[in-house]
Amino acid sequence: MDKAIRIGALISGGGTNLQAIIDACEDGRIDGQVVFVGSDKDGVRGLQRARDHNIPTFVVDYGEIIRKYRKSPEALALPQDFDLQDCLQRQNLFPEDSDSARVKAFFATRAAAEAALLAQIEPYRIDLLVLAGFMRNLTPYFIDRFNTDQDNPRIMNIHPALLPSFPGVDGYGDTYRYGCKVGGCTVHFIDYGEDSGPIIGQRCFAIEEGDSLDTIKQKGLEQEWQLYPECIQLFARNRLRTVRLTHKLDDGSLYSRTVVKILAEG
Ligand code: GRF
Repeated sequence: MDKAIRIGALISGGGTNLQAIIDACEDGRIDGQVVFVGSDKDGVRGLQRARDHNIPTFVVDYGEIIRKYRKSPEALALPQDFDLQDCLQRQNLFPEDSDSARVKAFFATRAAAEAALLAQIEPYRIDLLVLAGFMRNLTPYFIDRFNTDQDNPRIMNIHPALLPSFPGVDGYGDTYRYGCKVGGCTVHFIDYGEDSGPIIGQRCFAIEEGDSLDTIKQKGLEQEWQLYPECIQLFARNRLRTVRLTHKLDDGSLYSRTVVKILAEG
């Protein structure tokens, strides 16, 4: 890909990572352009950041969809091509509770929201979708429709911890409470699991005696603002490849995982 890539971003909040990405596009650290910013709720600061740079925005209000479903599940129009059993089989987000009304509600409301997301995103013909503080899990319904080529994933996420430690919604909080002496952040491609996809890049920072949760978050965000643009630029330069590696363990069993190889420049 020698051309500038077209990047779409999904956010849920303040959008400081979004800002770092927009700035990196504008000053040439990323060979690309943010062509839309979508949010799962209205009124968040990140949407204003986009508007300040004349970037089109949209909102798919997940909260409203969930409320509508709670009131009357039948009133929610499910996408025609949504297959609950298929989603359940592919995405095991609730291993202890795979067949309850709660799980069905989760997938039904997400599929409705994701169909709306796909409809908004489609006209922009993007090369890469970046999740920048987007606080919703994407289901196989969305992932498979966007990642049409399994060997070339194109949804990235940034997570506030050194994965695979501390997946979930509060990476810095979990790092702090555990008493870690090092914290960090991770950029990875999305797969069906929670923060479990192939890792593209990581950065770390020391946690000192005097640090609080606030100072840890600040140190972490400062690393995120550098790491995310760097990883996006690797994608833009066509330097990321996913490969399936298999290792034989001491007990004779095999361990396989898809990992990211970073190709040399040029
Ligand atoms: C970041 O810490 C990011 O790692 C996490 O959510 C936070 C978003 O912050 N996924 P911002 O909205 O980019 O300021």
